[in-house]
Amino acid sequence: MSIYLLINAFKSLKEIDFRILNAIERGMAHYEYVPVEVIAKLAGFSPEKVEGRIRNFYHLGVVQRRKGAYIGYILTTRGYDCLALNALVKRGVLKSLSTKPIGVGKESDVFEGLTYSDEIVAVKFHRLGRTSFRQTRKYRTYIGDRRHISWLYQARLAAEREYEGLNILYPKGVAVPRPISWNRHVVVTSLVEGVVLYEVPPLSDPADVLDKILENVKKAYDVGIVHGDLSEYNIIITPEEECCIFDWPQWVDRNHPSAPFLLKRDVENIVKFFKRKYRVKVDVSNYANILNIFSD
Ligand SMILES: Nc1ncnc2c1ncn2[C@@H]1O[C@H](COP(=O)(O)OP(=O)(O)OP(=O)(O)O)[C@@H](O)[C@H]1O
Ligand SMILES: [Mg+2]
Repeated sequence: MSIYLLINAFKSLKEIDFRILNAIERGMAHYEYVPVEVIAKLAGFSPEKVEGRIRNFYHLGVVQRRKGAYIGYILTTRGYDCLALNALVKRGVLKSLSTKPIGVGKESDVFEGLTYSDEIVAVKFHRLGRTSFRQTRKYRTYIGDRRHISWLYQARLAAEREYEGLNILYPKGVAVPRPISWNRHVVVTSLVEGVVLYEVPPLSDPADVLDKILENVKKAYDVGIVHGDLSEYNIIITPEEECCIFDWPQWVDRNHPSAPFLLKRDVENIVKFFKRKYRVKVDVSNYANILNIFSD
């Protein structure tokens, strides 16, 4: 994904173009490629006007054309990005997006953004569904068996789900980024300063940090949430050696049939990492209320 091409496209599009993109988005629920007549109807313009505008912005790479029995269009990832950014800007959340990437994700693109109150934030674009089947499987617990589900819908669902999780966790004092807003496949959260745990930051008291992480896993569990993909890649250690757990789209309810397995795997991942990298051992009996499900 090129952030420069995205920002350029976003800046070049006019209000009328966003209306057309919006119409294509709605049409995609019913058509593989949305016919020009349908776009025109949904946007409230004539088909000629729609064609004219699209011809004008086609080079921005926000839509893709199909030529065959009929001419139709679909949004590209960039087009979907533009729609989400437009909504967040209009809603008064984002003032600008920076070209500065924050970390690297396999299933997302995360950039710095600026809010209208001049807070630097993290802007996460979910990319689920465009790449591999394995990723889709990882989210099976909430996608269910709708295997034909489109990338657009999957990415949106991941963002919604992540925002929902953060909204439960953050107010309860679990160490997660503060949720600010979301639209479509994009989630805006506070920016957490620090180093991702897999980079093995030197810690003055590794056992204490491990303890804090597991305390938060437990707190999340107490409010009904299991992360489900916890590892050294999804934890940031701040300069004060506090932890912050992020990347929540795949969370499951503690009553979900997979919850015991996932919770166990989450805890084991972290405990093993601390053992391997920091030579720390943990007394699991401290986590009794999580661990009563470990007694298999
Ligand atoms: N709120 C935040 N503050 C600071 N950095 C963040 C924040 N959210 C995400 N990051 C950074 O962006 C990277 C990717 O984020 P995240 O793990 O949420 O996405 P992902 O695509 O699911 O990653 P993964 O590769 O683990 O699947 C993280 O490794 C982290 O370095
Ligand atoms: Mg991650």
